[in-house]
Amino acid sequence: MDKNLDEIKYELKKYGQEHLLNHYDNLDENKKKELIHQLSNIDFELINSLYANTKKEANNEKDKIEPIEFLDKYKLNEEYKNYEAIGKKAIKEGKLAAVTMAGGQGTRLGHNGPKGTYDIGLDSHKSLFELLADGIKEEAKKYDVIIPWFIMTSRENNEETIKFFEKNKFFGYQKDKNLFFFMQGQLPMVDTEGKILINEDGLVKEAADGHGGIYEALVKNGMVAKMEELGVEWVFIGGVDNCLVKMVDPVLMGIAIDKKVSVAGKSLVKANPHEKVGVFCKKNGKPYVIEYSEITDEMAEATDENGELLYGESHILCNLFSLDAIKRMGANPLPYHSAYKKAKYIDRDGNLVVPDSPNAYKFEAFLFDAFGAVDDLAVLRVRREEEFAPVKNADSAGVDCPSTARKLYEDFYKLK
Ligand code: UD1
Repeated sequence: MDKNLDEIKYELKKYGQEHLLNHYDNLDENKKKELIHQLSNIDFELINSLYANTKKEANNEKDKIEPIEFLDKYKLNEEYKNYEAIGKKAIKEGKLAAVTMAGGQGTRLGHNGPKGTYDIGLDSHKSLFELLADGIKEEAKKYDVIIPWFIMTSRENNEETIKFFEKNKFFGYQKDKNLFFFMQGQLPMVDTEGKILINEDGLVKEAADGHGGIYEALVKNGMVAKMEELGVEWVFIGGVDNCLVKMVDPVLMGIAIDKKVSVAGKSLVKANPHEKVGVFCKKNGKPYVIEYSEITDEMAEATDENGELLYGESHILCNLFSLDAIKRMGANPLPYHSAYKKAKYIDRDGNLVVPDSPNAYKFEAFLFDAFGAVDDLAVLRVRREEEFAPVKNADSAGVDCPSTARKLYEDFYKLK
């Protein structure tokens, strides 16, 4: 239940965030209610501690980081067939569901709308969502099943995403029967003094809290219960921005089942030591992904006796989880990472400020920070040209952009 105005005033004073009510009187009744709702639900203690963390130096020195073992999909020999048979059986039995993380906007791409609605410029002009839908339906046909598909949106793009699916007749899926939408969480953004920002509409400026909130969001929004109802035991979770994502992979599934691990992730050989991808490794004996922003040059460039990168198993956000693992992960909060970003806001005098350099912190949890909660995780090395065509940047960047993704997609499907 929402707090009353006096309770909120007291709380804001306690945490030095009184300015959030500066423009309250000028809001219409609906906005007033919305603001009260937002303020009633903010964990100010958490925001204070996240802000305090931005002032601390990251100290990973005490952690023991080691390379992780992996299987190469194309060097499995006889075992390949065994894993494939196990996975195929489970898929036929309807035990697999897929989740697409589509909470992001296409900001880096210069696209104004949910990233999944982006057209990468194929002759068909299909959006990322449609390419993903094609992929999952094509695979499902081989097993004579429909793979339930769950789309994670954010408050920012939920409505627009659902409308886009509606306009496209849900790509042959049936909403609330085998296609489900759920929203990830949000957190306020703070300035360099730790003050929460006010958005253009007079409400609290919030941003998606990262894909690490996915486990909790799946549980809280009743998606896990839905999966159980449908007889699902394994859940593939992937990003919306990889147009070659292979959501249905019997070999990956067979390995997870056979090796009795609760998480299995796909990797690729890193294109070069400084490619902007996270890499699988072990931290203090537990599975871990070290982000490209967090790895040292020395580690990124280290090689083994064969000249292969020691930390070369790129994490491509293609991971398979047992439903039990998701439930467990949903019960344990993950740490938040901070990112320094440009964010428009309303200042004390009610003026809109549009900064031209970063001015605010955004807090995000990463899905792979939950990997430490499992003792073992199987890593399967796959081929880049078959499974990874990311669309992250505008064409001017020259990498991971629409033109590179288009080429990879066309080469794979031999479209040209
Ligand atoms: C990500 C991975 C990196 C991996 C690379 C592979 C993170 C932090 N890092 O980097 O380890 O090697 O992809 O391509 O993810 N998303 C949401 N909600 C959010 C944030 C992101 O749904 O709050 C979704 C995006 O829509 C996208 C995916 O997660 O589908 C990746 O997010 P992005 O922020 O683009 O990560 P990268 O920096 O590309």
